[in-house]
Order: sequence, then C-alpha cells, then structure tokens
Amino acid sequence: MQDSDQQTLCKLGERQMTIRVLAMPADTNPSGDIFGGWLMSQADVGGSIIAVQVSQGRVVTVAVNEFLFIKPVFVGDLVSCYAGAEKIGRTSITVQVDIYAERSRDPNTKELVAKATITYVAVDDDRKPRVIGPIEC
Ligand SMILES: CC(C)(COP(=O)(O)OP(=O)(O)OC[C@H]1O[C@@H](n2cnc3c(N)ncnc32)[C@H](O)[C@@H]1OP(=O)(O)O)[C@@H](O)C(=O)NCCC(=O)NCCS
Repeated sequence: MQDSDQQTLCKLGERQMTIRVLAMPADTNPSGDIFGGWLMSQADVGGSIIAVQVSQGRVVTVAVNEFLFIKPVFVGDLVSCYAGAEKIGRTSITVQVDIYAERSRDPNTKELVAKATITYVAVDDDRKPRVIGPIEC
C-alpha cells in the first residue's frame, strides 16, 4: 500500500465505495423484495474492506453495533456500499457503511436504503487480537 493510500484511508468519517453489485432474484425474500440478510452481508463485506486496509491484515467481525433498514431494495437495483473508518482502537476498527440503491425503474434515482455501524477486530494467524500499527493521519 502506498503511504498516500493509508493517509486517505485513515481520515476518520470519510467514505469510499467498496462494493457495487446488482440485486438478483436469488437474493429475494418470500415477498419478492431483497432479503435483509443479503444487504447485511454486503455491508459486512463492504465494511471489512476498510478494516483490512486500515489494519493491513486479517480481520474478523466482532459486532454489528447498529443496522438500519431505511427503504426496501428491489430486484435489478444497483446496490453500492460507501464505507469509512469511524473509530480506530488498539485492535478494533469501527466502520460506518452507507448503502445506496440506484433503482432499475428510474436509473437517475440513488437512494440511501440502509446504514450500518460494524466493528472489526484485527487478528493474527492464531485468530487472536492483533495491535493495529501506527497510522499517520
Ligand atoms: C473478535 C475476537 C477475536 C475478540 O477476542 P477477545 O479476546 O474477546 O478480544 P478483546 O476482549 O481483547 O477485544 C478486542 C477488541 O474488540 C473490541 N470488542 C470486543 N467486543 C466488542 C463488542 N461487542 N462491540 C464492540 N467492540 C468490541 C474491544 O473493545 C477491543 O477493541 P480495542 O482493542 O480497540 O480496544 C473473538 O471474540 C472472536 O474470535 N470472535 C468471533 C469472530 C467471528 O467469528 N466473526 C464472524 C465471522 S468474521
């Protein structure tokens, strides 16, 4: 990783797009709308990308502190996760993830559909918490 990348990543509160994916029929609940668990999975992966970059190594999810479903997601929507570090602790990174949907029915509409706050712990090869190295902000 370049020094400039790390400096960008450690700016607390700033978001970057980490996932962009099409919501597919296989991701629906019995009512035909997109299953909340699928959206949670996208947020977990999208947030972990920031945690891996910040900690420069392996991470595990320790807590979903908050997950808010704001609007439904439909098949064909283009779903994007914007994630950024909110707090960097000794071994943990708390990431805010904002999820937007570009509606297939109206491509010009991009709506905030969910928000999550997720905490990851940097771990070593034995899955024990690993101290995050100094980050120059
Ligand atoms: C995550 C895990 C390694 C933490 O181990 P632990 O021995 O409990 O670690 P600690 O008590 O030292 O806590 C480590 C960090 O997590 C934070 N943490 C622990 N529980 C937390 C919680 N419920 N919410 C937020 N942060 C939490 C601590 O504050 C600490 O952060 P800090 O070092 O920045 O202050 C362990 O609980 C684990 O392996 N859990 C399973 C992870 C998993 O399988 N996730 C799903 C798949 S990725």
